[in-house]
Amino acid sequence: MVKVSSSILSCDFSKLGKEIEKLEKAGTDWIHLDVMDGMFVPNITIGSPVIKAIRKITTLPFDVHLMIEKPERYIDDFVKAGSNYLTVHVEATDDIMATINKIHDYGVNAGISVNPETPVCMLNEYLDKVDLVLVMAVHPGFGGQTFREEELSKISYLKDYKKEHNLKYDISVDGGINSRTGRKCVDAGATVLTAGSYLFNTKNIMSEISLWHSY
Ligand code: DX5
Ligand code: ZN
Repeated sequence: MVKVSSSILSCDFSKLGKEIEKLEKAGTDWIHLDVMDGMFVPNITIGSPVIKAIRKITTLPFDVHLMIEKPERYIDDFVKAGSNYLTVHVEATDDIMATINKIHDYGVNAGISVNPETPVCMLNEYLDKVDLVLVMAVHPGFGGQTFREEELSKISYLKDYKKEHNLKYDISVDGGINSRTGRKCVDAGATVLTAGSYLFNTKNIMSEISLWHSY
């Protein structure tokens, strides 16, 4: 079954705890946490202290998306805060392999993400090492952007590569996901739909998530 990773980026941060509770009741599989440093992307969001605080209120897996330069500097902090998946960008460091190994040494799932302008083959050498591949369907930095149809080919490529090499990573897609674009991603091979603004703007999150689970 397709998993839904709900991004809190578009939630009401003045009641973060309640918003997470709402997502949990609606049946989300994971909570997607967008960490931005104002350098790798032109926006600043939350860091490990916030993740540590919300770790106390839910047992749902935390799918932490690091949009920061040289993420290897902060792996310890994000592991200790309670991350279950730690995803780094292939564009963010020269030391991807060491970073993935460091995440695995802690017993945490490692993910790798790819920006729209980066060719997906840049991931090849890491695909047998990761648990998750996060395809960006928008330029990272902000919620509420339009899904880039041209990123669908990356999902198909990753699906074929996985089959050919008998690998097990999840293929997640992030940015501009709604019921229509989400369906296209699943048809292309996505196993996780990551979404923020669409879920927070929909009237009934639970029925939306159930619909996505049925794709
Ligand atoms: C964007 C973030 C996404 C964002 C998705 O840089 O990585 O996770 O929350 O937001 P929507 O679903 O609004 O495109
Ligand atoms: Zn994200």
